[in-house]
Amino acid sequence: MSQRVDLRFNDRPVRVPHGVTLFDAASWNGIAIDSTCGGHGTCKKCRVRFKTDPPAPTSLDVRAYTSAEIQDGWRLACRTAATTDADVEVPPLTTRPKAATVGVGRQVILRPAVRKRYLELDEPSLADQATDLERVLRAISDLAEKADLAVLRTLSRTLRDADFKVTAVVSDDTLIAVEPGDTTQRAFGLAFDLGTTTVVGTLLDLTTGTPAAVASMLNKQQPFGADVIARISATMLDPAAAGKLRELAVETLTELASAVCEEGGVRPAEVYEVALAGNATMVHLVLGFDPEAVGVAPFIMAARLLPEVRASDLGVPAHPQARAVVFPAFGAYVGGDITAGLLASGMDRDPRVRLFIDIGTNCEIVLGGRDWLTATAAPAGPAFEGASIRCGMRAADGAIEAVTVTGDGDLKLTVIGDTEPTGLCGSGLVDAVAALADAGLLDASGRFITEDEARIVAPALAARFATIGKERVFVLSGSVYLSQRDIRELQFAKAAIATGWRILLEDAGLTEEDVKQVLLAGSFGSYLSAKSAIRIGLVPGIGTRRIIAAGNVAGEGAKMALLSVRDRAAALALLEEVRYVELSDRSDFNDRFIAELSF
Ligand code: FES
Repeated sequence: MSQRVDLRFNDRPVRVPHGVTLFDAASWNGIAIDSTCGGHGTCKKCRVRFKTDPPAPTSLDVRAYTSAEIQDGWRLACRTAATTDADVEVPPLTTRPKAATVGVGRQVILRPAVRKRYLELDEPSLADQATDLERVLRAISDLAEKADLAVLRTLSRTLRDADFKVTAVVSDDTLIAVEPGDTTQRAFGLAFDLGTTTVVGTLLDLTTGTPAAVASMLNKQQPFGADVIARISATMLDPAAAGKLRELAVETLTELASAVCEEGGVRPAEVYEVALAGNATMVHLVLGFDPEAVGVAPFIMAARLLPEVRASDLGVPAHPQARAVVFPAFGAYVGGDITAGLLASGMDRDPRVRLFIDIGTNCEIVLGGRDWLTATAAPAGPAFEGASIRCGMRAADGAIEAVTVTGDGDLKLTVIGDTEPTGLCGSGLVDAVAALADAGLLDASGRFITEDEARIVAPALAARFATIGKERVFVLSGSVYLSQRDIRELQFAKAAIATGWRILLEDAGLTEEDVKQVLLAGSFGSYLSAKSAIRIGLVPGIGTRRIIAAGNVAGEGAKMALLSVRDRAAALALLEEVRYVELSDRSDFNDRFIAELSF
């Protein structure tokens, strides 16, 4: 695990990776320091004072401060690395930085990689023979030092047609476009959460940090199977499938991009950056990498950190020079969507021990806080998506999404779309099993009790037992029922997940009570009843108020990457900080799994 440094900014303690600048350290923690150059060392506004033991001044400090100020501990925050614990004073702001609330209540100070500046340039003359590019770069020396080749194809004409009044568009430190006139108020980015099932696209206004439009749709790869293993298998069986899967992912992203651009009144050429969070398989497929090695032991990805990716590599309609930020994965089964989710939920900044669980066919689990993080993946199977459940269905109209026992001991069902129930989705399944267990209709091993016993322990529910074929079932409503096998499926899924977090806790020398909060990521987490999740042992029994639905944190992380280069860097730093625990390696996994099956 990387070394950390304890800092205090105006008496507020923060813990940051060793070696980051004080400017970045403050910004990551939502503390604003004055700046107009964004940390490039040119504005000299990022004044901070070390209350004790200031580090040696840099050559820029010597130019920015008087010797008395240097003596007094004043330094430029963007030039000073955090190498030892320090108590630092940050003066009140003279300019108000723009900030946006993203992720799980995270305040992000706006510092996108994409920046625009309006320029009124001197026209060339015999006395000023600078080339067109030199002329532009000279005017934005604090922003960019190089240019994309494509800029030069139109630069000369653009400058002259616009009377040398142009807007420079910079991505990181590279000039990517020069536009006629003042377009500084028009800069957009597209954030994608590329899920195996659902894909969400958000169009972000990079000048304000606010979403201009959001849309979601099912991943068009669905016909190739519901989960990543099915899709990888498809590529192994048919050499043409990988190409088709790529096309379908690109089509999905393109449709979403077009929809949000239209809704937001934005031309694709005004989208200068794209961020994408997805699991390792989705990223392999959309970029055209062979996913086979991800699907078979020892589960190896083509790359963890990717070379520069352009929006055009993802097939997304955007400015031709737009870059794409693709979140890196920890491993084949803890992907970039989890890296993005950890960023959005601030797992690496919070001193509390928290548990992050993203429930799906493959369930990703991360435990820890700002000092340490460990992660694992548990094969939960498709029960929560309704795939292996007799009356299972997706969370769509007609699905029973919640089940409670009423005061008179009967059942109350909540159905999506307020229609006749046609099936049971994941959250309804968890509720139904928890309700049956609470009513005493299941024994500890998960088996239905006999009808005679049921008439004694829960008379209002006993009549719901029936036999379909040779199987005993519990009827929820009309044709929707829960079979003994369904309960077994849920037991397997919850046991895999519970084994995962218990192993992480034990490895850290902790118990359930040490967990201060559970964050349930993803859409399933939003619908799951905390009470039922605790009842069946899916999450630690730490009280319902501490079980938090974190929402679409992968998409939120992608938005943060567009709005803040510092948060983007923090996501990369996570790769170094998270220790991965492989469950399939553990000789004790099976015994523990069996122990977790009971309710
Ligand atoms: S932020 Fe501008 S000089 Fe430090």
